[in-house]
Amino acid sequence: MSHMENNREFFELKYTAARARAARRIEEAALGQVVGVNGYTTVVDAQRLCEHLDLEAGATLLDVGTGQGWPGSYIAEATGCRLVAADVPWEALLEAKLRRETGVVKACGESLPFRGDSFDAIVHADVLC
Ligand SMILES: C[S@@+](CC[C@H](N)C(=O)[O-])C[C@H]1O[C@@H](n2cnc3c(N)ncnc32)[C@H](O)[C@@H]1O
Repeated sequence: MSHMENNREFFELKYTAARARAARRIEEAALGQVVGVNGYTTVVDAQRLCEHLDLEAGATLLDVGTGQGWPGSYIAEATGCRLVAADVPWEALLEAKLRRETGVVKACGESLPFRGDSFDAIVHADVLC
């Protein structure tokens, strides 16, 4: 099995499993809110990304390896930009879509189906493509 197939299988299982209440409580205690985080990017990190990217409302952001929409959904909420969230497991993307109005794309970071000038900014947090 290739590295990518291993990776996909691991995350599909992870996102299919019901999130334990304890995990949500830990997330809330650590981050101050439940945002569907699956990595080490904190709310403070996401705020720094907002400041760094300085996106205008209506700009378009791509979050690659978004999982359940983190941190793209936070940045979109804070700046008013439009979010396109890309990842491989559908289960995670559907969660991201439920969280807010988000375009979701099931795609591997190695072969994204976009032209190079499609986005004003691209983020990826805790993703090894
Ligand atoms: C540790 S999680 C981080 C998820 C989210 N960015 C976060 O911080 O909560 C890594 C994510 O990267 C995705 N991923 C890994 N390799 C990828 C690839 N080649 N293309 C797209 N997504 C990938 C996984 O499916 C998983 O959702």
